Amino acid sequence: MEERKWWKESVVYQIYPMSFYDANGDGIGDLRGIQEKLPYLKRLGVDVLWISPFYKSPGFDNGYDISDYEAVDGKYGSGEDLDRLIQKAHEMRIKIVLDLVVNHTSDQHTWFVESRKSREAQKRDWYIWRDAVQGKEPNNWGSLFGGPAWTLDEKTGQYYLHLFSPHQPDLNWRNEEVRRSVYEMMNRWIDRGIDGFRMDVISLIAKPSEYEDGPVGKNGYADWHPTVANNPKVHEYLREMRRRVLDRGDLMTVGEASAVTVEEAEKYACSDGSELNMVFQFEHVGLDGSEEFKWNDRRIPVSGLKQVMNKWQLELEGKAWNSLFWCNHDQPRIVSRLGDEGKYRERSAKMLATCLHMMKGTPYIFQGEELGMTNFPFSDRSELRDIESLDAYDRYVEQKLFTPQEMLRIISLKSRDNARTPMQWSAGENGGFTTGTPWMKVNPNHVTINAGEQMGREDSVWEYYRRLIALRHSRPCIVYGRFAPCEEGGDRIYAYTRENEEEKLLVVCNFTGEAQTFDVDAPFRERGELLLSNVPESGLLSEGELQPWEAAVISVRNQTA
Ligand code: GLC
Ligand code: CA
Repeated sequence: MEERKWWKESVVYQIYPMSFYDANGDGIGDLRGIQEKLPYLKRLGVDVLWISPFYKSPGFDNGYDISDYEAVDGKYGSGEDLDRLIQKAHEMRIKIVLDLVVNHTSDQHTWFVESRKSREAQKRDWYIWRDAVQGKEPNNWGSLFGGPAWTLDEKTGQYYLHLFSPHQPDLNWRNEEVRRSVYEMMNRWIDRGIDGFRMDVISLIAKPSEYEDGPVGKNGYADWHPTVANNPKVHEYLREMRRRVLDRGDLMTVGEASAVTVEEAEKYACSDGSELNMVFQFEHVGLDGSEEFKWNDRRIPVSGLKQVMNKWQLELEGKAWNSLFWCNHDQPRIVSRLGDEGKYRERSAKMLATCLHMMKGTPYIFQGEELGMTNFPFSDRSELRDIESLDAYDRYVEQKLFTPQEMLRIISLKSRDNARTPMQWSAGENGGFTTGTPWMKVNPNHVTINAGEQMGREDSVWEYYRRLIALRHSRPCIVYGRFAPCEEGGDRIYAYTRENEEEKLLVVCNFTGEAQTFDVDAPFRERGELLLSNVPESGLLSEGELQPWEAAVISVRNQTA
């Protein structure tokens, strides 16, 4: 029997503060805005909020470049706003999980300012400094946001490592003082009342002892992932963090683990509790990638998706816990990516929600996903805000790999900025996000897609999410039942079952815009009860027929129970 845990039974809602709700009219979402929307979140039924960074930051990577881990950046409000938000959320029995970004700091963090002062500086070893090799960078790694992963610091004549932008120097986790300072900071956050951490690129914190060249890719640099990601030392550090910080309370921890395999995830999220509760894996959302990384117009193949999801479901069973997500601030909108943005937008959004939320693991909803928000039709470079998208646009256009128009089309399919447009609260000006000028354009479709229109409308995407969340809270089988894939369905239908002592659930999802047939097994056909469906009248039980983008959940009680 699976050990019961609150974070297994929870639904998490991710807030990207800059784009959630602007309470003071300066065009930027803020902490007071989150507080004002707590009743909205409560009504939706979510249990936990993961709030993306609002810490002091120069904002080169929208807050993932932190210059003070314990101060609220002025554009989001004050420390008091934060304490009040935590308190109000707790009064409403909503937990708060914060982003922990400790692979790197901002180059404006006092630690780095101190470190770069001289080769003898007291914090020199807190970051990764190397001499030039033959007058050049210490090795041929590329930064994830373009250019080399090393920047020469003129003053001291050495290079520092940054896997991301030059404004995000990597911390040296081999240094014990760095680790101690991070743990102390985490402990102070726990004292301040937070309920857990989402750990940014945690699989990258442990660096190798030698920096060797790797095979050069199309961008002229080597990919550091094979050397850096999941370096064995990361498990040592996380076990230490567990002893020194995490064991203090009943916290929720989820590690963002790029390039993680099932075998690695079993270590990070092992059910013995020695490291983290769960990780985000990226295999399913990497299926539309290529050698060109993400910049193409490929769609995720349904057969590949099934194979990857089934693998994670089956292989972690009894060993580690899954996290379930389609969207976050780094991913395009799922209804645009895997569903239908047109006629069947609402129905396909509900189908995708069903498919994910009925699996075994903790589901995450990214703001706006509960409305079926779509990608943005970018038509000019000036509409972009994301450092990664801007860099890609400039490089691809300059190297004539794509015309500006082609690149904008691809950005509208794949860019992180698709997730970051302001939340669509109403049909009014700026979608009700701000009374000022929004920091980023609101999607013009806010006139039809918005929370005001959907809340209370029986057949809306929003009401469907609410039902789905309520269903999870009322049926242990959805949380703890065993997962088994159905053979049938090919690249059109994704079907699986969940089962505990009490009941067995059949989940059937049509991933196409055409009607399909599906052979429902005898017990479901004979004694099944339709628990949830996204169409007015499902013909699945009576005829074995699925309408376009239909999803259905059928339950049979176990007769022995
Ligand atoms: C993570 C974040 C992403 C950020 C990167 C560097 O992947 O989710 O937004 O750019 O780490 O911190
Ligand atoms: Ca504001």
